[in-house]
Amino acid sequence: MTNTSSLPASLAPMAGYTDSAFRRICGELGAVYAVSEMISAEALTRSDRETAELSKIGEGEPPVVLQIFGRDPGVMARAADLLLSGNYPGCSYAAPPAGIDINMGCPVRKIVSNGEGSALMLDPDRAERIAAAVKEVCLKYGVPLSVKIRMGWDSLTAPEFSKILARAGVDRITLHCRTRAQMYMPSADPEAARITLSALREEECGRRILFTGNGDVCSPESARVYLGMGCGDVAVGRAALGDPWLFRRLKDPENAAPPTPAEIRETVIRLVEESAREKGEIRGIRESRSRAAYFIRGMRGSAALRDKLNRAESLKEFLRLVEEFRFPGELGVAGR
Ligand SMILES: Cc1cc2nc3c(=O)[nH]c(=O)nc-3n(C[C@H](O)[C@H](O)[C@H](O)COP(=O)(O)O)c2cc1C
Repeated sequence: MTNTSSLPASLAPMAGYTDSAFRRICGELGAVYAVSEMISAEALTRSDRETAELSKIGEGEPPVVLQIFGRDPGVMARAADLLLSGNYPGCSYAAPPAGIDINMGCPVRKIVSNGEGSALMLDPDRAERIAAAVKEVCLKYGVPLSVKIRMGWDSLTAPEFSKILARAGVDRITLHCRTRAQMYMPSADPEAARITLSALREEECGRRILFTGNGDVCSPESARVYLGMGCGDVAVGRAALGDPWLFRRLKDPENAAPPTPAEIRETVIRLVEESAREKGEIRGIRESRSRAAYFIRGMRGSAALRDKLNRAESLKEFLRLVEEFRFPGELGVAGR
């Protein structure tokens, strides 16, 4: 592979961040597809309104895969059926979902203590039954099924676990190259992708399973490491939060321009405005505080701005603060 080729990348699911507004921006900048925030299968089947909101797909987004979590195969299959049929209160799709993803990687105590998320890696029988039940639904609607996993609970079990998922009919596996015990630190280990892929090849029996590498992708170089391990593409998480232009650099590593100060400001403003429009002013502002903070991190004056944004009570005030902030490179302001 030459250094100039495009490096295929998707936006990884991130609860509280990968909503319609952010996915749209990442898609425009080059994300090939994007995964929603995680959606509780159990809550969706109870017609919970807030849960339904997480599954909204807006105009102008890249293909959107909806991610569900849960532990009961029947409930997971029903949730997938609701999402794919659109037959639930509050459903709003500008385009149909591009697939279903099952969360088998979430490390959060509240989730794993219910036997959900990465706890499923400790219960391969259940994981297989969930994947098989959801796959049946995906087949009915003609969409692919992916599963997002970790390296394992506290050691590398992803190779054997992936074989089980392959037998259950999964079309894509996304491997976050950390164990549950490691949470989000230390550095991800892309070597785990190579080992898992080679185990999977033994199992595939002629069926090709797509494989996505995830963990610490923050540059074309780090993406190339995963592709060099045999991954077909990479999923970008935290690095995209304040830098969706990373997708532009991955798409065209040689020619992509860094964002201008005006572009950064416009993007923050767009995120806040779209959030407020879609979720209401109060919630839009509340959710935008941490998002805006990622965009200004490390810049001179960012701590003071963060403070003010945390106290802003109207969209107008929030926007004024962002408008007035001087980004590095503007009017003689030095870089980060
Ligand atoms: C704030 C936050 C929320 C996340 N939410 C989800 C989620 O809803 N579903 C999921 O599968 N992974 C979730 N993740 C994990 C990411 O998708 C990704 O696997 C992880 O951050 C590692 O990738 P990175 O090093 O590029 O950030 C979340 C991560 C963060 C930081």
